[in-house]
Parts: sequence; structure tokens; C-alpha cells
Amino acid sequence: MLATGRGSARGAAGSTHTAAAPVRRQWSRTARAVRAAAQSPPPAQDTARGSEAAGPGPSSTSSSAGASWGPLAALLGGGGGPQQQGPTPEVRVPLNNVGKVPIFQLLYDLYCSHGGVFRMHLGPKSFLVLSDPGAVRQVLVGAVDKYSKGILAEILEFVMGNGLLAADGEHWIARRRVVAPALQRKFVSSQVALFGAATAHGLPQLEAAAAAAAAGDTRGGGAASVDMESFFSRLSLDIVGKSVFDYDFDSLRHDDPVIQAVYTVLRESTLRSTAPFPYWKLPGISMLVPRLRDSDAALAIVNDTLDRLIARCKDTLEAEGSIPVPAVSASSAGAASTPSAPSAPLEESSAPTVLHFLLGGGEALNSRQLRDDLMTLLIAGHETTAAALTWALHLLVTHPEVMQRVRDEVDSVLGDKLPGAEDLPLLRYTTRVVNEALRLYPQPPVLIRRAVQDDVLPGGHRVPAGTDLFISVWNLHHSPQLWERPEAFDPDRFGPLDAPPPTEVSTDFRFLPFGGGRRKCVGDMFAIAECVVTLAVLLQRFDFAPDSSFGPVGFKSGATINTSNGLHMIISRRDLTGVPPPAPRAAAAAAAAASTGGCPHAAAAAADAAAASANGCPHTAAAAAGSAAAAGAGTPQPRQ
Ligand code: HEM
Repeated sequence: MLATGRGSARGAAGSTHTAAAPVRRQWSRTARAVRAAAQSPPPAQDTARGSEAAGPGPSSTSSSAGASWGPLAALLGGGGGPQQQGPTPEVRVPLNNVGKVPIFQLLYDLYCSHGGVFRMHLGPKSFLVLSDPGAVRQVLVGAVDKYSKGILAEILEFVMGNGLLAADGEHWIARRRVVAPALQRKFVSSQVALFGAATAHGLPQLEAAAAAAAAGDTRGGGAASVDMESFFSRLSLDIVGKSVFDYDFDSLRHDDPVIQAVYTVLRESTLRSTAPFPYWKLPGISMLVPRLRDSDAALAIVNDTLDRLIARCKDTLEAEGSIPVPAVSASSAGAASTPSAPSAPLEESSAPTVLHFLLGGGEALNSRQLRDDLMTLLIAGHETTAAALTWALHLLVTHPEVMQRVRDEVDSVLGDKLPGAEDLPLLRYTTRVVNEALRLYPQPPVLIRRAVQDDVLPGGHRVPAGTDLFISVWNLHHSPQLWERPEAFDPDRFGPLDAPPPTEVSTDFRFLPFGGGRRKCVGDMFAIAECVVTLAVLLQRFDFAPDSSFGPVGFKSGATINTSNGLHMIISRRDLTGVPPPAPRAAAAAAAAASTGGCPHAAAAAADAAAASANGCPHTAAAAAGSAAAAGAGTPQPRQ
């Protein structure tokens, strides 16, 4: 959830590892181990004791790269911790192994040898690690009141204060009921044109690279080579700035002190989340360490900018006399589990941004709270989306047959025009590509919780109050027990395209890129729409080929999974000779009908479902899915 600096601005905090094929090889080794484990008695009943680096899992953590241990290491400072009394497998990881591999990779190795629920001991602390869908569902949904965000609040307090992401209790309830409706489906639909325009704003850079390629300069690292990870980072900053608080960072075209300040703050957030201990708590440290002084100064610049935006927005609303009232939509994630807010449809509001919406809520909010909300959305929505786009493009470029299908879809739906909200339901395969990229590269790969009451998880695993937990989304998404060919990039794995896209509910908590339960991401629809639009606009126009002069694409893990050295691509203009113009909409509907076996009712129901889900409304999508299923379309499941 935390963001990191873009491209060259990235800090040295993350671990650097080889992604793609080498990682896949290593995981296929561990995958074999999990399969073997699946044939023996259930690992959750294993009473293995916490011997030093027991088994092949922890010992395989002795590789040599940098660290991604922040929350975990910060927790180490807490000392002590509840003792596990039950049959939960236990493993002790030697402290000198800490930080040698990204935490999600370590947890995967341990999962292979210790199963879906185990306790990991590290120095004086221990952590319960969950990779079992039933246990995860209990923590996120069934017994959600027994868990808090734990260490996250501590790490993020300096930047987002009491913002939604890390808040708990009454304060979280109050903020959620205001912020979640602001990002509802209608708002997301209203932003589609902005997503397209923001991407188009970055096209000149890519055109220049393509022109160099056309002139024959395709040298690695030359003028035709662009770091697409940096491009996506800038693009998603521009989009979140515009959509959330109407600030035009224009970071795709230029740098200025505010952009630099944002990246300084984001980088410090990442460094804190990956630090070996909570150094920021040392008395007087921010005066002594230049980096922390810089971070404080940058934070002051960002806060000042946000305060000015808030003041400007207040003035505008007051001048207009238009005080919109926020709606509570069934579509807003978490709405069902949080108290209702006063309701009126969003379209009655003249407010084009989330900030307008928050200000128009009629609640007496102080500027500090508003600032915390905006900062939270900036941080939560920026690098997650950028990372999703980065890995989606990486996967597409390394899977030409999938790329071709996306192209065919984009060409037939859009031709050469920019996407509109009405196009999203038709970009179904592209949406699945984004879903599958988020399965393979979940952002963040690990969620954090702390038990505030005793609990017992399925399988009898006791969770005394005070236990810190890691929910390994990575393990859930890569488990060979839960998925066929888990390491394969297969956007078709989620079922027929005319069925709704997968969610944590439809997959029984095997797939949770946006979390689940009442703390589920409020920006899920926004993020999927942004990714689909961005990919469509780029793939309409350009061919991307890996710039091999930078070597294989490695990864390093901070709060999100980033590449170790950028995603460098040689860009060229697409040859559109022979690409037919887009089919008229009526013909597209007929094609959809044909693809559902010719039944127009099934096609209509499926189109509704796709429309609802592409617009991001899980509730409407679920309802439409019901109709689609009744009309003959199947509900996707990850494993038959
Ligand atoms: C691909 C992009 C994104 C991914 C993968 C993602 C993922 C997540 C996940 C997994 C959570 C749950 C964390 C937990 O349970 O501990 C979350 C929460 C959250 N996300 Fe996102 N997110 C994305 C984009 C966005 C965007 C675009 C926004 C806003 C503009 C956003 C705002 C939030 C907020 C405010 C929360 C906290 C919700 C709460 O605690 O009530 N996210 N996100």
C-alpha cells in the first residue's frame, strides 16, 4: 500500500531479486514441495516445533539480496508476545536470515513446509502467518472486530495521520462512511475520460521513442528505450492528483518542487515500511539525520499544497452555493458493514473530484482530517496502480499470444478513439489480464493485522490477543493447492469472459488483490478502470519489446513489488495495416450473444454483469452474475 519513489528516485530499501523465469523456476521447486505436503497429513495439524530454521523452507532464505522486512522488523522492537499453545506448526527463523529475501518469498518457502497457518518466531517476537483461505476469511470478515491494523498505523502516522488506511475503531468507521461513497461507480465512470486523457498526455514521450526506433536507433538504453515503470508511476500520480483533489502534477512532462516533495515523502514511507527497526522513534533523530530532515521539509510542502487545495475547493463550493450531499451507494465497498451516511445521488453534485465530494458531505471536518484523507488516497492509490500496470505490461510483453488477444479486443472495441465509460464493459479480456496480473503480483503481497481479542481460527489455531498476523496474499495467489498451474499467466483461468470478473467472494478467498471484508480497498473500481484504460490507450498505438540491454527484469519488494531496475522497453509505432475498423456496437452485442451460445438473454445478462463489474460495482455485478448464471453463463471458480 505504501508508495515508493519513481524510477531513479527509488530508495535502496527494497530487496532486489530476479523476477520472471528464474523466480518461476524457484517457485516450481517449492510448488512441488507443497504438492507433496498436500498428500501427507494436513500441515495445520503438524506439531513440528520451532527448531532453528527447521526444514527446507527457512534454510532457503539464505540468499544474499537486500531487505524487505519493515513491518516485521519494526514489530521486533516490541519484545515478548503471546505464546502459542495449540497445535499450530512453529518455525524459528534465525535473525541473521532477516532481510535476505523479500518477506513474501520467505513466507512462501515457509508455507511450502509448514502449511496454511503457522507461527514464525523471530528473535523475541512471533507472528502468525496465514495462507489458508478459511483462516483469512475469518480474520477479514467473520471475526473482523477482533483484529486491528497493528503496526501499520505506527509506520504511516507521520504521513497520513489518522487517515482511513491505518485507522481503526470508531474513527475508521466515521472516515470510511465518508470516503468510500466518494469513489463509487458513478464517480469512476465519470473519470474514464480523464484516465484516457492523462495517458494521452504522456504519449509524446513514447512517440519520440518510437520516432527514434523508426529512424533505426533501437540501441539498448538508447532513444527508443523508455522505463515504463517510471512512466506508470508518473501517470498514476497525475491521475490520482487530478481525480482526488484536482491538482495537476503533470509529472509526465515536468518536475517541480511539489512533485519532488511527494516522492520524498513516499520514499520515506517505503523506507519506514522496510526498515530493520523503527528508527523514526529515536528521540531527536529527525534533527540529526539529513534524510529525515528532508522528509519533514517535503511533508511540509505537500501539506501546504493540500491545505491550499482544500481552501480553494471550499471557496468554490461556497461561491457556487452548491453543497452536495454524499450518497451511500450499495456499490461502495464496505457500505454494508459501516453506518449509513446521508444519501443523495452523486450526479446531483457538481463536484468533479473526491475532495469536492468530501467537502460537500455537510460534515464539520477540520482541514487536518481532510488532509489526512487526501494523503491516504494519494499514497494508497498511486504506487499500487503503477505497480499493477508495470507487471501487467511485463506479462503481456512476455506472452505474445495474450498480447495479441488484448490488441484484437482493443482494436475491435475502440479503433483509434480514446476509451469512454461505455467501452469498459466491452474490454473484458483486457480486464481479465489486469485481474491475472494482480494475482501474480499482488500489491501489497502481505497484509498486516493484530489480534485485539482472543480468537480461534478454523483448524483450531488459537490466536491470543496481541498476536501479530501476516496474511500472505502472495501465498494464496500462488498456491498449487488452490490453483491449477499457479505460476502460469492465464487470464482465462477465471472462467468465461461473459461472466463477472473474479472477486474474493467468487473465489472463496483464494483471490484477494483488494483485500476483503469491510477493510476492502475503496479504490478497487477506480484502479481496475484506470489500468484497463491505460493499457488500451498504449496498446492501441505502440509495440513494446523488452530492452535486453538492462538484463532480466528483477523485482524488489517494498510495500509493493517493484522491478529492481526498471521496466525498460523499446517502443515502436504499431503497424496498423490490415487492422479492421471497430465493429459497430450492435454487431458487438450480436457477437456477445453468439459467444454465449446464441441465447440473447444470456448475452444481455452477461453484458449487464460485465458492465456492472467493469464499472466496478461488486454488488450490481453479483446480482447481474446471478441473472447471467440463471441464463446459462457459468460462475467462474479458480479450480474445478
Ligand atoms: C491496483 C491498485 C490497488 C490495489 C492492488 C489496492 C489494494 C488494496 C488492498 C489489498 C487494501 C486492503 C488493505 C488491508 O486490508 O490491510 C486496500 C485498501 C485501501 N485502498 Fe487500495 N488498492 C489499489 C488502488 C487504490 C486506489 C486507486 C485508491 C484510492 C484512490 C485506494 C485506496 C485505498 C484505501 C483508502 C484503503 C483503505 C480502506 C480501509 O481500510 O477502509 N486503493 N487497497
